Amino acid sequence: MADQQYEYGMIGLGTMGRNLLLNMVDRGFSVAGYDKDPNTLELLNKEGAGKNLHAFATLEQFIQSLKQPRVIIILVPAGRIVDAVIEEVKPFLNSNDLLVDCGNSHFTDTNRRINHLNDQGIHFMGTGVSGGEAGARFGPSIMPGGNAEAYQMVKPVFEAIAAKTNGVPCVAYMGKGSAGHYVKMVHNGIEYAIMQAIAESYQMLKQLGGLNNTELQVIFESYNQSAIRCYLLEITSAIFSEPDDLTENRLLDMILDSARQKGTGAWSSQDAMNLMVPTPAIDASVVQREISGLKNERIFASNVLNGPDNDALLGHDGLVPVIEDTLHFCMICIYAQGLALIKAASQQYQYDTDPVQVASVWRDGCIIRADMLEDIRKAFQQEPALQNLVVSELFAGRLNKLQKHTRSAIISAVSAGIPVPVMMSNLAYYDSYRSAWLPANLLQAQRDFFGAHTYERIDRTGSFHTNWQALTDNNG
Ligand code: 6PG
Repeated sequence: MADQQYEYGMIGLGTMGRNLLLNMVDRGFSVAGYDKDPNTLELLNKEGAGKNLHAFATLEQFIQSLKQPRVIIILVPAGRIVDAVIEEVKPFLNSNDLLVDCGNSHFTDTNRRINHLNDQGIHFMGTGVSGGEAGARFGPSIMPGGNAEAYQMVKPVFEAIAAKTNGVPCVAYMGKGSAGHYVKMVHNGIEYAIMQAIAESYQMLKQLGGLNNTELQVIFESYNQSAIRCYLLEITSAIFSEPDDLTENRLLDMILDSARQKGTGAWSSQDAMNLMVPTPAIDASVVQREISGLKNERIFASNVLNGPDNDALLGHDGLVPVIEDTLHFCMICIYAQGLALIKAASQQYQYDTDPVQVASVWRDGCIIRADMLEDIRKAFQQEPALQNLVVSELFAGRLNKLQKHTRSAIISAVSAGIPVPVMMSNLAYYDSYRSAWLPANLLQAQRDFFGAHTYERIDRTGSFHTNWQALTDNNG
């Protein structure tokens, strides 16, 4: 085998790495792979027999096989393993070589790694990849960030392997520094919130509407033929009809109601809190996964705490369109919160991220792909100074119509004791955002009362403090 024959390198040949590599090779690129696990090497060399690829067992051979400047994609679990890979490979690299981390790394780690490798003139790009195993193999959504010139080294291959919307690749430069990983983190936050909104709809249709899995499958399929058509509804509908291998039941009914998480949703909420950007639907969806994990406590509490007396089933005929509109309302508010966070982060961290490009790359290939992302892209394109999607010309009118049914759904859920925190937090976000007046004057007064934190006035500028205690002393 001739030295320096492969255009790209891939470190990490697990499910995502292997499939991304095969996708690259199918698009006409030559790729060398490296992994410490001999099984993954064997699997790839077998699957890729006759193709323009080779999986190497030693790092030296792998590096030696790459054309220069080297472009190496890293696809290993986020965290310390990424640092370990960087330290292992760094002595073999030259200035202008490029490392591309395509895992779900935390954006602050990406910043640190960019600076660390910059000393040696090595480029490092944090790149979000979404779409799971099938996406990696046949067309993911790709969110690259970092040095704009270094991006040119991977642009052709990313555009070739990405999913396409009307022929346009679902990849675009997301901005400087850790912008790519930031956008992917928010993608996952949105993913959590939409999943939870769908789960809340499921509980309402099941418990209030009394629908069985077959009926739920039909209804979610019909939702997926409407304006809220999206990948997560598509898989939800399919889930309801899946039989269980081990019993006579549907598989869904045999799955424990306790959801795991790897943490990217919580990261979104944490940074939203740091930047003081409200993302209540993402926050609530993280909280619901946490509460779902308290299974034993919930079982105990279910025997101690009461719900409302009236829990009679409502007819599902009325519920079905009401839930459809509520999901529609929620999806708009969730994308609005996620994109508002990206906008604020872009300013704070100087990413220069374009929301039009973000919406554009999310249109296909990724987990949150949805038909409405085309209109979201248009909304930001038509109004470049748009503060928030909810007030855009394309979406404000829709929300004005959808809010009525959203209120009905929430009232029904609350009166039956069904928890719908993502629906509720979206409605509260909407009602708060559209309120020219909020009771925060009282908060200011309370802060000044107990902590002399001062307050602002509506009739003149400056900070003011009142000796409130004296008032109570007099009254007392
Ligand atoms: C994607 C997914 C992917 C992963 C999630 C799962 O875009 O392809 O988001 O990144 O499946 O991170 O996250 P949780 O394990 O936290 O649910």
